[in-house]
Amino acid sequence: MNPFRLTLATDDLFCNRVAEIDLLMKNMLSGIHTVVYAPRRYGKSSLARVVMGRLEKKMVGVYVDLFSITSNEDVAAKLYRCIVQALGHNAADHSSAMSRIAGFFKNLRLSMSFDPITKNPEISVSLGDVNAVVHIETVIGALDEYCAKQKIKVCLILDEFQEICTLKDSKKIEALLRSGMQAAKHVSFMMLGSRRTILRDMFEDRKRPFYKSAYIMPLPKIPETEMVPFLVRTFKKGGTSLSPEQAQQIVTFCDSYPYYIQKLSMLFFDMKAKGNALSETQELLIAMEAPDYENIFINLTMNQKRLLQAIAKARPINIFSNSFLVEYHLGSQGGVQSSLSKLKKLDLIEQQKDGWKVVDPIFEKWLKT
Ligand SMILES: Nc1ncnc2c1ncn2[C@@H]1O[C@H](COP(=O)(O)OP(=O)(O)O)[C@@H](O)[C@H]1O
Ligand SMILES: [Mg+2]
Repeated sequence: MNPFRLTLATDDLFCNRVAEIDLLMKNMLSGIHTVVYAPRRYGKSSLARVVMGRLEKKMVGVYVDLFSITSNEDVAAKLYRCIVQALGHNAADHSSAMSRIAGFFKNLRLSMSFDPITKNPEISVSLGDVNAVVHIETVIGALDEYCAKQKIKVCLILDEFQEICTLKDSKKIEALLRSGMQAAKHVSFMMLGSRRTILRDMFEDRKRPFYKSAYIMPLPKIPETEMVPFLVRTFKKGGTSLSPEQAQQIVTFCDSYPYYIQKLSMLFFDMKAKGNALSETQELLIAMEAPDYENIFINLTMNQKRLLQAIAKARPINIFSNSFLVEYHLGSQGGVQSSLSKLKKLDLIEQQKDGWKVVDPIFEKWLKT
């Protein structure tokens, strides 16, 4: 059995992050709203789930994934559905819990049925004819009141939080959520996001509603000293041995990206049994990810593509230096400036102490080929 997984990491497939778990638990328990940001596939959702599990006895966890939202109605319905599900799920007596919940969320129409197989309650929520904006304005307040009355605390996780910026009325929605969040006494917010530039702007721009409203926590790399033994251990669990040197090669190739580490390890676990080398598996990983990269690439303008490739190849310290612009035929500074800001906004590139680089390590390798 292959021990690696591409879904959320849990239990012994979740490596380390001890300090982050600790901090998030403390913040949630003391009502300190927190933003966790990191590139996509870095382990945010897994971390949030682990924290939610650890808090289980002290707080009700509500997990809302905003990734696919397309309208205000969507946001309102998702918030409500997840909140009502979580509150109902935690109650000993489901039907009395439902009527109690319905009493607090007055604008909602709730109905409940039981899954014929699992017997779990399935709750459906309808917004009725009340405007979605009104729902968003009142949902957090109603939840807070419910918590006060029931003497419970809620940890509200809003995953891919930056997506609310894509809504038509985003400014208004931001302001409403912000005031709900600020007034809440029994609800701690954990907001996760992968588009770091957008998220940072939301929380660090004076003119925006969320300015300085939350503790900001960039998710660091999982230390190699944890990752390497984790891989050796997990291979062993699957009945195969992996040398620490090869484990280190996997971690280095993936630049400590948890998703790629899981995927490369998963592939190598099978390839190794067939006698293939790690280098062949690395090639295979790049080939398997290629459609995803092609998709990103195809949506860029010619100038953005050129700049992205140049950054992948050169990792420049100074993007605007003449030699870099000339060597890669990047054209005018003004043009490069606008491509740069777009690529940053998409979180495709980032500036580090040692220069500019492509955020995703395997995408970078693909761009260089
Ligand atoms: N702490 C961890 N240890 C090992 N693997 C992890 C860890 N966190 C995440 N992963 C793996 O990384 C991948 C992406 O995780 P996910 O939590 O979905 O990231 P994100 O929400 O940042 O996109 C998954 O395959 C998951 O198994
Ligand atoms: Mg996620």
